[in-house]
Amino acid sequence: MPIKSNDAQDNGYHGVKTVVVPAAGMGTRFLPATKTVPKELLPVVDTPGIELIAEEAATLGATRLAIITAPKKQEVMRHFDEFPELVRTLRARGKEEQAVKVERAGKLIKPVSVPQEEPLGLGHAIGLAEDTLDDDEQFFAVMLPDDIVMPATVMGEMERVRRAVGGSVLCAFEVSREQTADYGVFDVEDTNAPGVKKVKGMVEKPDPADAPSNLVATGRYILDRKVFSALRRIKPGKGGEIQLTDAIELLIREGEPVHVVVHRGTRHDLGNPGGYIPACVDFGLRNEQYGPALYKDLKDIIARYEAEL
Ligand code: G1P
Repeated sequence: MPIKSNDAQDNGYHGVKTVVVPAAGMGTRFLPATKTVPKELLPVVDTPGIELIAEEAATLGATRLAIITAPKKQEVMRHFDEFPELVRTLRARGKEEQAVKVERAGKLIKPVSVPQEEPLGLGHAIGLAEDTLDDDEQFFAVMLPDDIVMPATVMGEMERVRRAVGGSVLCAFEVSREQTADYGVFDVEDTNAPGVKKVKGMVEKPDPADAPSNLVATGRYILDRKVFSALRRIKPGKGGEIQLTDAIELLIREGEPVHVVVHRGTRHDLGNPGGYIPACVDFGLRNEQYGPALYKDLKDIIARYEAEL
């Protein structure tokens, strides 16, 4: 498979314009914090997950962030507002750096709110975004804000694969067989491009004994527009929800190309404290302002902890 780099402008090719971000979940794994604060607004160091996603989408070249929101989670959209009084006050006090931080989210990308009245599943949420796309958008991206992938360049690689072979391109990473029960799992075959596999089938959260591989979907997708038709035609699946995995499986059965790029970097799950805390440590250590002190503090904390064991 000839996958060239840096030819995005060839033949009038346009990259991803819209990134769909499902953000209507109840955040049950993060209670009690999520009684009043949407999990997408919990900070990694000082920046909410939704702004990290907006930044990744903007870096990819996307111009529109279609945020699927629940009626009680409008604060997620508010994060992209302008806050002129706050900015004025900060500037009047000489706090330029903070003023820039307030303005940043709204300048990254154009957010569009897509309401989801009931939590009927990831597939249902994505299906709602169809009307947000322009008529000429043949494909779009989905980024799940629970998932942080590092380096974030994997979406660019996925876009290159879409350009070469069409269809849908997902991001895969390896887990242990037991962990397959928590993910959409791929049945794959090799291609002649390293790190790119053709998907022959996909199953949502299987019993590990039945998992077709230990390559699972992480929250980055480039989806052909045909997925909307597939989403309309599938029945509720795992957990009684409309599953994106089932729509992708249907596309494969209908002969549409689906590939994965195997992600070899890091992945954090911000959706629960067990994944969120390491993410904060990882980002914190790399932060210019807090990193050096955090490194020392962590060593002290670990030394004290080990002495107690
Ligand atoms: C969703 C998808 C699953 C995917 C996972 C990645 O599951 O349904 O296929 O592997 O995201 O994080 P969720 O974590 O929302 O249950």
